[in-house]
Amino acid sequence: MNVPGAKIVFFEEDKDWILKEVRTVLDTGQLTLGRHGRAFEEDFASAHGARYAVATNSGTSSLEIILRAIGVEGREVIVPTNTFFATAAAVVHAGATPVFADIGETFALTPETIEERLTPKTAAVMLVHIGGMITPDIAAIQTLCRRHRLVLVEDAAHAHGSSRDGRLAGTFGAAGSFSFYPTKIMTSGEGGMIVTDDEAIRNEALIYRDQGKKDFSSNFHVRMGYNWRMSELHAIVGLAQLKRLKQFIAARTRIARIYDEGLGRMEGITPVIESAGGAGCYYKYLAVLDDGISRPAFKKLLREKYGVALSGEVYETPLHRHPVFEAVGKGAFPVAERLCARHICLPIFSDMTEAQAEYVLESLKHVIASLAERGEAISMTTIGGVR
Ligand SMILES: Cc1ncc(COP(=O)(O)O)c(C=O)c1O
Repeated sequence: MNVPGAKIVFFEEDKDWILKEVRTVLDTGQLTLGRHGRAFEEDFASAHGARYAVATNSGTSSLEIILRAIGVEGREVIVPTNTFFATAAAVVHAGATPVFADIGETFALTPETIEERLTPKTAAVMLVHIGGMITPDIAAIQTLCRRHRLVLVEDAAHAHGSSRDGRLAGTFGAAGSFSFYPTKIMTSGEGGMIVTDDEAIRNEALIYRDQGKKDFSSNFHVRMGYNWRMSELHAIVGLAQLKRLKQFIAARTRIARIYDEGLGRMEGITPVIESAGGAGCYYKYLAVLDDGISRPAFKKLLREKYGVALSGEVYETPLHRHPVFEAVGKGAFPVAERLCARHICLPIFSDMTEAQAEYVLESLKHVIASLAERGEAISMTTIGGVR
């Protein structure tokens, strides 16, 4: 059996609907900022319990727009070091300095790691829901931000439909940013979305995404905007996928429960289990390898002998180690260093079968046993370290 690490799913009836709707926009010529984009925004906002949503051409641009809208120029923004390049790059593009912070065992910033990095110049905190998990520290982080008058921004690129205690990703801070890049649990080809309850942020976002124009029909520029618009063609694909979001999450959650159960009894690997109150979307299923197991050897054997591909790590190299962030990457990040080096992402996708998940578990067991035989010692003492 071959199991891919990740896969995007389009049902036949959805492909038919997409092609039909694409034909209508080709006929009318309304190829951008039209009724599909507006419908996508309205449906996405209501699916996330937010008042407003603004569609953009990427998750990167939606992050930059939020940061420009709240006004961080010349200030600092705290960013976890274990995130995608774009989280920190958006801070730079918005005229601010990213300040990297360490994380806790949940792969997210904690109130303590944020507090360590506060300075009089801190304007905002960027919380990233890695793999789709919303940290149980979220309420404490909200309180800390309020106390220090910092704006909380969520990079929810991994967290479509994730919730904690019934509240959806993107609605915990001033605004949340989503990505529809094709690896994500729902895609529009390329694209992004801003959600917010704040009318001022929404109005600024509308201006920024369309070249900083005062309004759509004028050519009067009041902000240093850009072409960050989403086309109707992308919005159509996004709408079709949004209709499946709940179904996709339910399917992934079924697979995650099988992994939780199977990995709970396995030596050498520890699953990262959602804490009570959390209901992630399982963009990724994270687990942590024991110290004695080499991740490259583990991945190679799993792929070559068992046909099981793991999906990409989130993330393999923390941002403070990338040459492009050398000037701002100072500090100690022990938890992020360890988790970035030791975690893996098991295959998970929205039409994965239970048989595939069982096969992955069986394969993991064999791979761990063969690595142990080959002398890739497994340290039993570290089992149960990360939950
Ligand atoms: C955490 C995170 N932030 C931001 C982005 C940027 O999104 P996009 O690729 O849509 O620009 C991504 C996705 O690729 C991401 O994973």
